[in-house]
Order: sequence, then structure tokens, then C-alpha cells
Amino acid sequence: MSEVDLSEFAALNHDKAEGFRRQRDEEKRQRENLEKRLVELHKRYDLVTAIDAMESSADPWKRAKPIKGKFHAIANTISSDQHFGEVVRPEEVQGSNAYNLRIATLRLQQHAEKFCELGLDHLGYLTYDGAHVWWNGDAFSGDIHEELAKSNEMSTLATVDHMLDPVISFLKTIVEGYGKLHVSVRRGNHTRTSRKVPAKGRVRESFDWLFMRIVQRELASDGRITFDIPESDDGIVAQYGHRFLATHGDQFKGGSGISGIMTPLALGNYKKLKRNLSIGDHLVYDTMILGHFHSYLTLPGLIVNGALKGYDEYAFVQNFGYQDPLQAFWATTPEHGPSFHTGIAVMNRKREGW
Ligand SMILES: [Fe+2]
Repeated sequence: MSEVDLSEFAALNHDKAEGFRRQRDEEKRQRENLEKRLVELHKRYDLVTAIDAMESSADPWKRAKPIKGKFHAIANTISSDQHFGEVVRPEEVQGSNAYNLRIATLRLQQHAEKFCELGLDHLGYLTYDGAHVWWNGDAFSGDIHEELAKSNEMSTLATVDHMLDPVISFLKTIVEGYGKLHVSVRRGNHTRTSRKVPAKGRVRESFDWLFMRIVQRELASDGRITFDIPESDDGIVAQYGHRFLATHGDQFKGGSGISGIMTPLALGNYKKLKRNLSIGDHLVYDTMILGHFHSYLTLPGLIVNGALKGYDEYAFVQNFGYQDPLQAFWATTPEHGPSFHTGIAVMNRKREGW
């Protein structure tokens, strides 16, 4: 019988046994860790369930009973970019708008009615110290371009005569609603009487100025209505200490880039404030009011009006976005300054019949 040497086999078995022991110990450690984690998770779950089951018995805070007449306001609207005399044919703007003198009058009527409705009915709890109409320029189409001179419904002088009664009715409707009315008049670039926009005589050489001076005279006997018609391009009027600067906005160039009108507005506001500060502290203002851009928009310190005229052929071929004809509304309060901003929709296709 041959002799068998088991020493190698024993050594092999010893190595294997050592490996099994290490594996067993490792698994034991892992199991213990997992058990610990499970205990922690149970604790967290119990906490969440406890929070979920909590019931609050907190009461609502008591509000003071509203006192009728406590909160005062001035109702504001901008009337601008009416472009009276211009004709917009639906066929040329994909059926999105129509405009002529008849429609302009209906939109003025809708503007006055909705201006009263918004302030007196929707915000009827406010006590109004009056209304403020900002007549912000471009009331007339003007003959400043060949295409306008060719296509306007009637001459600018005849349009001035034609629109006197509708505009007086517009202002009278508003003063009937609010009891008092102030009208701030600024001129626009379309109403100039020269080929180029002048610096000298910029206001007095415009149909906006002449027209509203006539309106002022027509309403002179009505002590409820006051006007400011400065002969400089801008003018500041304060309401409860909040200072508004109104100007048409044609000084601000550009605005067709990707940033839209934001760039000219921001630059223009900065330049104007800087200029005013250099003249004197009395020209500092809090909010700038503009027309010109035909896009209703509010930003902190800025209110830009839409156009009574609405969308036109120029906006369409320039690929500008469509906006309903909107005229700005807000109420200024002593506590919060200009508040409750919205655009008054002045277009009513059914009423206008197109
Ligand atoms: Fe305009």
C-alpha cells in the first residue's frame, strides 16, 4: 500500500475554512447594520405619522370691520394713439381689426363706459376723489406720410371738427361717473404740422395741442373738469404725493429687437430721470406714463398704453405681435400709489359691426 501525504489537502481545507469564516463574519456585520437602519427608519416613520395625525386648533385672525368711505383713490386711464381719421381695412390685417371715424367714436364710448364700470362697480368700495384722463398723444392720424395723406378718411382739419363732440361726450361721461376730472394733455408725433418732428414749438405746432385747447374752452363752464396742457413735451402731475411724468414716448427709439420695447424704455427712463435731476429736484418723478408703442404694458415705475386704433397694416407687415385695442386703467391710492392695473378692452366687434 502506497503512503498518502495529506499535508497539502489539510492545508487546502484550512484556507477554505478561513475564507468561509471571513464571509460569515462580513455577512453578520452587514445584517447588523441593516437591522440598525431598519430601527432608525421605524423611528422616522413613527414621527411622520405622529405629525400627520396632529390637528391644529388655530383660529383665523380677526379682521377689522370694513368702514365704508375709509379708502380713497383717484381713478386713472390713458387715452392715446386714437389716430382719428386713419382707416384700417380688415382685409389687410387678416381680419384682426377694422378702424374708421365711426368705430373710433364707438371705442371712445366703450372706453368711458368701462372706465366708470371698473372703478365704480368692480372697485366700488373705494371713495373716489376724482378721475384723471391722461391724453397721451397721437389723437390724429395726420398727413405725415404719403400713404396716410392718401388713405385718411378726411382731412386732419375736418377730423378735428368731426371728433370734437365725441371727445367732449367721452369726458362728460367720465365726470358724471366720478364727480371730478383732471385731464393731462401731451402731444404725439403723428399730430405734428411739419414734415419732421420739431424741437422748437413741438407742442404748439401739433393738432393734439390745438384740439385739446378747443376742448378745454368748450368745457370751461364745467367747474368739475380741469386741464394741464404744458408747452413742453413732458409734464409731471402728483396724486397723493406719487409723481407721474407723462410724455408721448417718441423720443425713445428702437424696440423691434428681441428685447422688444424694454431696451428703449429702460434707457429712455434713465436718461429722462438724469436730465430732470440735473435741472432740479422738483422734476423727479416716480412713474412714467407713455403712449406711442401701441402695446399696453406695466412695469414698476412705468405704464405704457395700448392704442385705441388697435392693430394696423404697419404692425402686421413689421411682424409685430397682435394686441387687442387696450387703454390703461389703474387706481392710485394714498396707501399704495398706483394699483389695480388692467387694460380696458375698447373693441366690441358686434357693436362695431364687422
Ligand atoms: Fe401712435
